[in-house]
Amino acid sequence: MKVLIIGKSGQLASELIDTKPNRIEVLALGRENIEIESINSISDQIAKFNPSVVVNASAYTAVDKAETDSDAAYAINFSAVENIAKVCKSNNIRLIHVSTDFVFDGKKNSAYKTSDKTHPINVYGASKLAGEKAIFENHPEDSAIVRTSWLYSGYGNNFVKTMLRLMAAKDSLNVVADQIGCPTSAKELASFIWKLTSQELIKPLYNWSDLGVASWYDFAVAIQDIAIECDILNKKIPIKAISSQEYPTPAKRPQFSLLDSTESYQIYPANHWREQLKIMMSNTKEFLL
Ligand SMILES: NC(=O)c1ccc[n+]([C@@H]2O[C@H](COP(=O)([O-])OP(=O)(O)OC[C@H]3O[C@@H](n4cnc5c(N)ncnc54)[C@H](OP(=O)(O)O)[C@@H]3O)[C@@H](O)[C@H]2O)c1
Repeated sequence: MKVLIIGKSGQLASELIDTKPNRIEVLALGRENIEIESINSISDQIAKFNPSVVVNASAYTAVDKAETDSDAAYAINFSAVENIAKVCKSNNIRLIHVSTDFVFDGKKNSAYKTSDKTHPINVYGASKLAGEKAIFENHPEDSAIVRTSWLYSGYGNNFVKTMLRLMAAKDSLNVVADQIGCPTSAKELASFIWKLTSQELIKPLYNWSDLGVASWYDFAVAIQDIAIECDILNKKIPIKAISSQEYPTPAKRPQFSLLDSTESYQIYPANHWREQLKIMMSNTKEFLL
């Protein structure tokens, strides 16, 4: 089977490439190889490689910047996704696309199911929701959207790497404790996506996160504990739990965005987020600081 990955240098794309099953031939394209704003460019690449599945791992992911750069966010998270869906539909290609817990407003107090009503509270979330709708409208028969949360990896930029840099440089740290969700290993998400490529039938929408629940504060505390255990850091600094009000950001974040991924665990079982975090940090410690 041939799988085309769109977006080749991001966290998820890098993990997809690393975890590729042997039987699958992969071509990963970045912005230097494909113009996702152009339907012709996508069609040309599809015609050349002739994949049976496309995984869209590209996205505009700068959540705060999107508030003042909404045209760019919509160009990648909506228009380009619509283009990809149209080309996949006309070539009979399965499309697997990734979305976010930020399609929700965070007002629920139990884990969000795929059937829950969406209501984004920032531009990034709204642009990602527009991308989901473009797929439902243009290629409903053989597409799957996987919503995920709080992704991290040894690749790219993410909360784990930011925390480690700050912990190495500062004497103390304040971290928001009133936003609740679940950290998710991009490697585990990649493994789930590989399962979806070969399922005979797929559902239109899945949730995927690792197991458990955390605040950003809990996540930071675990990062520091594991970093000391693995000799990535050599000193412990105080971490203070603060409220979102004490750490204003341009984009509002949902206060509670835990995803109920129970159905997805029948396809690929998950581990607790802390266990996955330790696996990632101990395997990639030389790249983390
Ligand atoms: N990160 C999170 O915490 C998180 C949480 C929930 C959901 N998600 C979703 O998970 C998916 C994967 O996220 P990620 O963390 O892997 O993102 P990422 O590391 O920011 O990677 C996004 C990739 O998209 C590429 N891209 C952007 N515009 C492009 C264009 N015009 N043409 C080609 N490539 C383009 C970027 O390329 P360049 O490197 O060249 O810019 C980058 O490689 C996304 O759909 C995201 O919305 C992420």
